[in-house]
Amino acid sequence: MLRLNTLFLTFLIHYIETADILYVTPFTSTSHNMLLAPIGLELARRGHNVTVITSHREKEPPPNYNQVMVDDIKIWEVMSGGRPNVFTMTDISAEEFHHIVFWEAGLAFTEVVLNSTEVKKFLDKENHFDLVISEQFFQEALYVLAYKYNTPLALVTTFGNCMRHNIAVGNPLQLATVIPEFLDLEDPSSFWGRLRNLYFTIYEYINWRFVYLRKQEQLVQTYLPDLPKNRPSLYELQQNCSLMLINSHFSFDVPAAYLPNIVEIGGVHLSRINSSLPKNLQKIMDDSVDGVVYMNFGSNVRSSELPAEKKKAFLNVFRKIKQTVIWKWEEDILEDKPKNLVTQKWLPQKEILAHPNVKVFISHGGLIGTQEAIFNGVPLIGVPIYADQYNNLLLAQQAGFGRVLKYHDINEETFENVLTDVINNKKYIEAAKEVSRRFKDRPMTALDTAMFWLEYVIRNKGAEYMKNPAINMSWVAYTMLDVYAFIIILLVSALLITLKVFSILQNIFAVYNTHDIKVKKKS
Ligand SMILES: *[C@@H]1O[C@H](CO)[C@@H](O)[C@H](O)[C@H]1NC(C)=O
Ligand SMILES: *[C@@H]1O[C@H](CO)[C@@H](O)[C@H](O)[C@H]1NC(C)=O
Ligand SMILES: *[C@@H]1O[C@H](CO)[C@@H](O)[C@H](O)[C@H]1NC(C)=O
Ligand SMILES: *[C@@H]1O[C@H](CO)[C@@H](O)[C@H](O)[C@H]1NC(C)=O
Repeated sequence: MLRLNTLFLTFLIHYIETADILYVTPFTSTSHNMLLAPIGLELARRGHNVTVITSHREKEPPPNYNQVMVDDIKIWEVMSGGRPNVFTMTDISAEEFHHIVFWEAGLAFTEVVLNSTEVKKFLDKENHFDLVISEQFFQEALYVLAYKYNTPLALVTTFGNCMRHNIAVGNPLQLATVIPEFLDLEDPSSFWGRLRNLYFTIYEYINWRFVYLRKQEQLVQTYLPDLPKNRPSLYELQQNCSLMLINSHFSFDVPAAYLPNIVEIGGVHLSRINSSLPKNLQKIMDDSVDGVVYMNFGSNVRSSELPAEKKKAFLNVFRKIKQTVIWKWEEDILEDKPKNLVTQKWLPQKEILAHPNVKVFISHGGLIGTQEAIFNGVPLIGVPIYADQYNNLLLAQQAGFGRVLKYHDINEETFENVLTDVINNKKYIEAAKEVSRRFKDRPMTALDTAMFWLEYVIRNKGAEYMKNPAINMSWVAYTMLDVYAFIIILLVSALLITLKVFSILQNIFAVYNTHDIKVKKKS
């Protein structure tokens, strides 16, 4: 009976009527969608009426999963320079990358979303929502939908800890240990690393908030002109968000202090495992008794854009090893292809990495692929290209299950050394298994964690009490600058007064002493 009661109480506390949820994840990247789609689908599975603004149509969605499609325009088509060869991006600084890719393409793509036929039609209709969940990825104008529908706002990101977000919601910055998500730093905690970190954080914050966000505001004015003029700014909307789900986990990422409304859901897309491979790959992998080398540079990087000499280096090394190599190769033809090499334009990565015969994953170090390697306990060889990739691979190297191979260093000799080391040295696989074990050692799966907190925010009408009161304080008050200034003024005044008193006393003594000498001389 007691047990029944407790069960009933637990049910009551966690009970939530199904809600109307708007889920805004318009970005075209396949890897973003891989991480974000399971959250929307799981909300629908739990009975919520989910409306998703997306570029990726779900083939067989549940009936309570409504899709509002963004016009089919690829992000590269809206960039002024067109699609660059992604390998050339290894050489540009984080600052340049933000200007040419994140900020420029972010603005152009946000406009594509707001100008999409279905999106416009949807925004013109009367709708009711209880929660707006938005991806946080350079489409801040869409946060205004939380204001339009008068709901709390939850943010979800395919990346880990975010500097801009920390500043906005009043989470401590921790610049000595936590680096901005897209800054590549060789030695983050060294003096120069920390100096670079501080410089970049200030640079990014000022450009983001005072240049880029203003352009996002203009998009809101152009495409949603009926909203009241005195609405909160996009910055204020972000500051006032109820929940931030971030794609990291302290078992792999740098542990950091988080407010209660910043929740780690690292590897959320791996919570529901389905490791059945297509028949042809299943057979190839089962038959590879010496193991499989899996190579995939992700959805945005095309291996076929590799310069000829680097391609040759890879092929020559593959020819020498006894393992089977599976490589995501986007063209029909690959000349001079070794017998042990299988290429395919698309590969089911999660499923391949789950196969016990995989010896190593040669990757560009994207966070989602890295998490898939961690989840399955597969060692990594990483060739970082841009954004957060270097940082992810550096963490893998530090944790002992990966090796970074810099793009410019790739030749037959370096690649052969790294590959044979990672395949033959047991320490990599042992470290990979260990990190995998701790990555999964959690009170509940990442997907259940995400569900709990999203429903928590709905149940508690935005959970106002979870927000840091610092968001309502001035910057000076929050950073305690006024108090420090007061203390310094007090100390300096005390010091000046002491010095003054001392010099007065010294003068008196001086007068007294001369007087004394005179008296002595006289006698
Ligand atoms: C679900 O949400 C959509 C908005 O996209 C709305 O049109 C529909 O009426 C809602 N369904 C229910 C059953 O409330
Ligand atoms: C918005 O979409 C229309 C077609 O639906 C197109 O003619 C127009 O150029 C688009 N505007 C922008 C700024 O892309
Ligand atoms: C902040 O969000 C809550 C809902 O979560 C809302 O009630 C409140 O009005 C918002 N405050 C501001 C200043 O936008
Ligand atoms: C699992 O994967 C197989 C093959 O890729 C697919 O046919 C099946 O529908 C998947 N099952 C689930 C539950 O996603």
